[in-house]
Amino acid sequence: MDKRLNIGVLISGRGSNLQAIIDGIDRGEVAAQISVVISNEPGAYGLKRAGTHGIPALVVNHRDYENREAFESRLIEILKEYGVELVVLAGFMRVLTPTFLKAFPMRVVNIHPALLPAFPGVGVQEKAADYGVRFSGCTVHFVNEGVDAGPIVAQAVVPVFPTDTGEILADRILKMEHQVFPKVIHWIAEGRVHVEGRRVFVDGAKVDEEIAFIEPSL
Ligand code: GRF
Repeated sequence: MDKRLNIGVLISGRGSNLQAIIDGIDRGEVAAQISVVISNEPGAYGLKRAGTHGIPALVVNHRDYENREAFESRLIEILKEYGVELVVLAGFMRVLTPTFLKAFPMRVVNIHPALLPAFPGVGVQEKAADYGVRFSGCTVHFVNEGVDAGPIVAQAVVPVFPTDTGEILADRILKMEHQVFPKVIHWIAEGRVHVEGRRVFVDGAKVDEEIAFIEPSL
Protein backbone atom coordinates (compact mmCIF):
# COMPACT_ATOMS: atom_id res chain seq x y z
CA MET A 1 0.00 0.00 0.00
CA ASP A 2 1.15 3.54 -0.73
CA LYS A 3 2.39 5.60 2.14
CA ARG A 4 -0.44 7.55 3.70
CA LEU A 5 -0.09 11.08 4.98
CA ASN A 6 -0.14 11.21 8.77
CA ILE A 7 -2.60 13.84 9.89
CA GLY A 8 -3.47 15.25 13.29
CA VAL A 9 -6.91 16.80 13.70
CA LEU A 10 -7.54 19.62 16.19
CA ILE A 11 -11.13 20.18 17.27
CA SER A 12 -13.14 22.09 19.85
CA GLY A 13 -16.64 20.70 19.46
CA ARG A 14 -19.07 18.61 17.47
CA GLY A 15 -16.55 17.20 15.03
CA SER A 16 -18.76 16.71 11.98
CA ASN A 17 -15.85 17.66 9.71
CA LEU A 18 -13.66 15.19 11.57
CA GLN A 19 -16.35 12.58 10.86
CA ALA A 20 -16.38 13.47 7.17
CA ILE A 21 -12.61 12.99 7.04
CA ILE A 22 -12.83 9.66 8.90
CA ASP A 23 -15.56 8.49 6.49
CA GLY A 24 -13.53 9.60 3.46
CA ILE A 25 -10.53 7.65 4.72
CA ASP A 26 -12.72 4.59 5.41
CA ARG A 27 -14.11 4.73 1.89
CA GLY A 28 -10.57 4.86 0.49
CA GLU A 29 -11.09 8.35 -0.91
CA VAL A 30 -8.52 10.13 1.26
CA ALA A 31 -4.92 8.88 1.18
CA ALA A 32 -4.28 9.80 4.80
CA GLN A 33 -4.51 8.37 8.25
CA ILE A 34 -5.50 10.22 11.40
CA SER A 35 -2.79 9.53 13.98
CA VAL A 36 -4.31 11.65 16.72
CA VAL A 37 -7.25 13.92 17.50
CA ILE A 38 -6.75 16.67 20.05
CA SER A 39 -9.46 18.84 21.58
CA ASN A 40 -8.94 21.90 23.73
CA GLU A 41 -12.46 21.38 25.08
CA PRO A 42 -12.88 18.37 27.38
CA GLY A 43 -16.56 17.91 26.46
CA ALA A 44 -16.10 17.98 22.68
CA TYR A 45 -18.34 15.41 20.99
CA GLY A 46 -15.68 14.91 18.33
CA LEU A 47 -13.56 13.06 20.92
CA LYS A 48 -16.26 10.36 21.04
CA ARG A 49 -16.28 10.10 17.26
CA ALA A 50 -12.51 9.54 17.28
CA GLY A 51 -12.82 6.99 20.07
CA THR A 52 -15.49 5.05 18.17
CA HIS A 53 -13.04 4.69 15.31
CA GLY A 54 -10.11 3.68 17.52
CA ILE A 55 -8.25 6.93 16.93
CA PRO A 56 -6.23 8.26 19.91
CA ALA A 57 -8.24 11.20 21.26
CA LEU A 58 -6.60 13.56 23.72
CA VAL A 59 -7.63 16.68 25.59
CA VAL A 60 -5.23 19.59 25.92
CA ASN A 61 -7.25 22.16 27.78
CA HIS A 62 -5.86 25.61 27.06
CA ARG A 63 -7.12 26.77 30.46
CA ASP A 64 -4.50 24.55 32.11
CA TYR A 65 -1.66 26.51 30.54
CA GLU A 66 -0.18 29.81 31.58
CA ASN A 67 -0.15 31.30 28.10
CA ARG A 68 -0.69 30.48 24.43
CA GLU A 69 2.92 29.50 23.89
CA ALA A 70 2.85 26.91 26.68
CA PHE A 71 -0.45 25.50 25.36
CA GLU A 72 0.88 25.34 21.81
CA SER A 73 4.18 23.81 22.86
CA ARG A 74 2.22 20.94 24.38
CA LEU A 75 0.21 20.54 21.16
CA ILE A 76 3.42 20.50 19.10
CA GLU A 77 4.97 17.93 21.42
CA ILE A 78 2.02 15.55 21.02
CA LEU A 79 1.68 16.06 17.27
CA LYS A 80 5.40 15.38 16.75
CA GLU A 81 5.20 12.34 19.01
CA TYR A 82 2.48 10.94 16.72
CA GLY A 83 4.50 11.74 13.61
CA VAL A 84 1.94 14.21 12.29
CA GLU A 85 2.82 15.68 8.87
CA LEU A 86 -0.29 17.82 8.32
CA VAL A 87 -2.33 19.55 11.00
CA VAL A 88 -6.03 19.81 10.22
CA LEU A 89 -8.09 22.41 12.08
CA ALA A 90 -11.65 21.11 12.06
CA GLY A 91 -13.64 23.53 14.16
CA PHE A 92 -10.69 24.35 16.40
CA MET A 93 -11.60 27.58 18.15
CA ARG A 94 -8.16 28.85 19.20
CA VAL A 95 -5.99 31.19 17.18
CA LEU A 96 -2.53 29.73 16.62
CA THR A 97 0.57 31.88 17.10
CA PRO A 98 3.88 31.78 15.22
CA THR A 99 5.16 29.38 17.89
CA PHE A 100 2.87 26.72 16.48
CA LEU A 101 3.08 27.70 12.82
CA LYS A 102 6.90 27.58 12.82
CA ALA A 103 6.68 23.95 13.88
CA PHE A 104 4.42 23.14 10.88
CA PRO A 105 5.20 25.69 8.16
CA MET A 106 2.44 25.65 5.47
CA ARG A 107 1.36 22.36 6.98
CA VAL A 108 -1.72 23.58 8.80
CA VAL A 109 -5.10 23.73 7.04
CA ASN A 110 -8.35 25.19 8.29
CA ILE A 111 -11.96 25.19 7.15
CA HIS A 112 -13.96 28.38 7.46
CA PRO A 113 -17.74 28.65 6.90
CA ALA A 114 -17.69 31.70 4.61
CA LEU A 115 -16.15 32.82 1.35
CA LEU A 116 -12.95 34.43 2.60
CA PRO A 117 -11.80 37.16 2.65
CA ALA A 118 -15.46 38.05 3.36
CA PHE A 119 -16.62 37.30 6.88
CA PRO A 120 -13.54 36.16 8.79
CA GLY A 121 -13.92 35.36 12.49
CA VAL A 122 -16.83 33.69 14.28
CA GLY A 123 -20.62 33.62 13.90
CA VAL A 124 -20.12 34.24 10.19
CA GLN A 125 -23.09 32.32 8.81
CA GLU A 126 -25.46 34.62 10.68
CA LYS A 127 -23.41 37.65 9.67
CA ALA A 128 -23.58 36.64 5.99
CA ALA A 129 -27.34 36.01 6.18
CA ASP A 130 -27.94 39.32 7.99
CA TYR A 131 -25.76 41.20 5.51
CA GLY A 132 -27.99 39.97 2.71
CA VAL A 133 -25.27 38.49 0.50
CA ARG A 134 -26.62 36.27 -2.28
CA PHE A 135 -23.83 33.71 -1.96
CA SER A 136 -21.70 32.33 0.79
CA GLY A 137 -19.92 29.03 1.26
CA CYS A 138 -16.82 27.54 2.76
CA THR A 139 -13.11 28.06 2.36
CA VAL A 140 -10.24 25.66 3.00
CA HIS A 141 -6.99 27.54 3.46
CA PHE A 142 -3.49 27.15 4.75
CA VAL A 143 -3.06 28.86 8.08
CA ASN A 144 -0.71 31.82 8.35
CA GLU A 145 -0.24 34.38 11.08
CA GLY A 146 -3.43 36.30 10.27
CA VAL A 147 -6.90 35.24 11.32
CA ASP A 148 -8.59 33.28 8.49
CA ALA A 149 -6.08 34.91 6.17
CA GLY A 150 -3.84 32.21 4.67
CA PRO A 151 -3.59 31.05 1.02
CA ILE A 152 -6.85 29.54 -0.22
CA VAL A 153 -6.86 25.98 -1.53
CA ALA A 154 -10.57 25.57 -2.31
CA GLN A 155 -13.94 27.22 -1.91
CA ALA A 156 -17.49 26.00 -2.35
CA VAL A 157 -20.34 28.37 -3.04
CA VAL A 158 -23.94 28.09 -1.84
CA PRO A 159 -26.85 30.46 -2.40
CA VAL A 160 -28.14 32.61 0.43
CA PHE A 161 -31.85 33.45 0.51
CA PRO A 162 -33.44 36.47 2.21
CA THR A 163 -35.47 34.06 4.33
CA ASP A 164 -32.35 32.30 5.68
CA THR A 165 -31.46 32.32 9.33
CA GLY A 166 -27.83 31.84 10.31
CA GLU A 167 -28.71 28.28 11.26
CA ILE A 168 -30.32 27.39 7.94
CA LEU A 169 -27.36 28.84 6.08
CA ALA A 170 -24.89 27.07 8.38
CA ASP A 171 -26.52 23.71 7.52
CA ARG A 172 -26.32 24.43 3.81
CA ILE A 173 -22.65 25.42 4.10
CA LEU A 174 -21.80 22.46 6.34
CA LYS A 175 -22.86 19.99 3.65
CA MET A 176 -20.27 21.59 1.35
CA GLU A 177 -17.63 21.58 4.09
CA HIS A 178 -18.01 17.82 4.40
CA GLN A 179 -17.33 17.39 0.69
CA VAL A 180 -14.52 19.87 0.25
CA PHE A 181 -12.35 19.33 3.33
CA PRO A 182 -11.67 15.59 2.83
CA LYS A 183 -10.94 16.24 -0.84
CA VAL A 184 -8.37 18.94 -0.08
CA ILE A 185 -6.68 16.68 2.43
CA HIS A 186 -6.53 14.00 -0.23
CA TRP A 187 -4.98 16.41 -2.75
CA ILE A 188 -2.36 17.44 -0.19
CA ALA A 189 -1.71 13.79 0.67
CA GLU A 190 -1.11 13.10 -3.00
CA GLY A 191 1.41 15.95 -3.17
CA ARG A 192 -0.69 17.85 -5.69
CA VAL A 193 -0.97 21.14 -3.81
CA HIS A 194 1.64 23.88 -4.25
CA VAL A 195 1.65 27.31 -2.67
CA GLU A 196 3.23 30.26 -4.46
CA GLY A 197 2.73 33.41 -2.47
CA ARG A 198 -1.03 33.77 -2.05
CA ARG A 199 -1.82 31.49 -4.97
CA VAL A 200 -2.38 27.81 -4.52
CA PHE A 201 -2.04 25.40 -7.43
CA VAL A 202 -3.68 21.99 -7.44
CA ASP A 203 -2.12 19.66 -10.01
CA GLY A 204 -4.70 17.97 -12.19
CA ALA A 205 -7.61 20.02 -10.84
CA LYS A 206 -10.61 20.18 -13.17
CA VAL A 207 -11.33 23.63 -14.54
CA ASP A 208 -14.56 25.04 -15.93
CA GLU A 209 -14.20 28.55 -17.27
CA GLU A 210 -17.89 28.81 -18.09
CA ILE A 211 -19.05 28.39 -14.51
CA ALA A 212 -21.20 31.20 -13.13
CA PHE A 213 -23.86 31.52 -10.44
CA ILE A 214 -26.64 34.08 -10.43
CA GLU A 215 -29.03 34.46 -7.53
CA PRO A 216 -31.94 35.06 -7.89
CA SER A 217 -31.73 32.99 -11.01
CA LEU A 218 -32.40 34.89 -14.28
C1 GRF B 1 -17.54 24.40 10.93
O1 GRF B 1 -18.59 25.22 10.52
C2 GRF B 1 -16.22 24.93 10.46
O2 GRF B 1 -16.30 25.58 9.22
C3 GRF B 1 -15.86 25.92 11.53
O3 GRF B 1 -16.28 25.32 12.72
C4 GRF B 1 -17.36 24.42 12.45
C5 GRF B 1 -16.95 23.08 12.98
O4 GRF B 1 -17.98 22.14 12.91
N1 GRF B 1 -14.45 26.21 11.50
P1 GRF B 1 -17.68 20.62 13.27
O5 GRF B 1 -17.10 20.61 14.68
O6 GRF B 1 -16.70 20.09 12.26
O7 GRF B 1 -19.01 19.94 13.20
